[in-house]
Amino acid sequence: TPRPRVLSGIQPTADSFHLGNYLGAVRNWVALQETHDAYYCVVDLHAITMGHDPAALRERTRISAAQLLALGLDPERCTLFVQSHVPEHAQLGWVLSCITGFGEAGRMVQFKDKSAKAADTTTVGLFTYPILQAADILLYQADQVPVGEDQRQHLELTRDLAQRFNTRFGKTFTIPAPFILKDTAKITDLQDPTAKMSKSASSPNGIIELLEDPARSAKKIKSAVTDTGREILYDEENKPGVSNLLTIYAALTMRTIDELLEQYEGRGYGDLKKDLAEVVVEFVKPVQERTRAYLEDPGHLDKVLAIGAEKARAVASVTLGQAYQNIGF
Ligand code: ADP
Ligand code: NA
Repeated sequence: TPRPRVLSGIQPTADSFHLGNYLGAVRNWVALQETHDAYYCVVDLHAITMGHDPAALRERTRISAAQLLALGLDPERCTLFVQSHVPEHAQLGWVLSCITGFGEAGRMVQFKDKSAKAADTTTVGLFTYPILQAADILLYQADQVPVGEDQRQHLELTRDLAQRFNTRFGKTFTIPAPFILKDTAKITDLQDPTAKMSKSASSPNGIIELLEDPARSAKKIKSAVTDTGREILYDEENKPGVSNLLTIYAALTMRTIDELLEQYEGRGYGDLKKDLAEVVVEFVKPVQERTRAYLEDPGHLDKVLAIGAEKARAVASVTLGQAYQNIGF
């Protein structure tokens, strides 16, 4: 039996991924290569909905792809590509926008949040972004889509659109199911451990960027906000800071929280931070080296991405052709 197909994307909106992106998303992508027919995409079309700088976007798209490769995506075992290299995304996006109700799109909570925060720069693209995301998924006939809480509503929309299209125009799309990842680490901000680690963090010291100077990362870990008391316990409610450090530690070393608790019994926060700082440095160093190697050989990176786009288009063009045919083009 063929492996289930999975699709996931990440935006090239920062100069570096952060530890939350890796432990919450990319690490799972790497694992899914072994069990799934995996399609991964750097979603640059989604990165222009709020205004952007062209040179920075181009650079960040390449850096994102280089980091994904450095973190373990293997072009022999997955299809890695850049969204704008596959024109079918925008083409199917248009078709799907014509079967989406205006009110239906208006119910997307993420749009309401983002547009409320940036009313002056809100675009029609930001409004229709979930429809383009539906196209991203349906083009590949994905069986499964890994989703966090914040993307659930968008995947529901994707499923509704697929069903609607199939009912009106004949079976065209696979209805994708949400793929709930079992042990996805939720990483929180080092300075504000009740908030998620995010590139829009209020303090740069709250996030570990994979491509920053490792000495800086070590410093950030050592000055992470910890909790009152001294005992090293895992308690997200009362000790969110220490719990976050334990989560990162366990995830990067493939050990369990219980093993760590045993190791640090009777020891203080300082010991934990010092050791974790070392673990983080040892993790990022080779990732940085590999990322640099990809960026220093642009011809090779271009080739990897061109092959990925070709593999993606082979699937996407068939789906789009079928969809066009079924709607009467
Ligand atoms: P950010 O919140 O920094 O803007 P994105 O929204 O671009 O990050 O997220 C990219 C991917 O990384 C998503 O799959 C998201 O679920 C995951 N991710 C982002 N931040 C974290 C975090 N703090 N912990 C776990 N996963 C995260
Ligand atoms: Na985000």
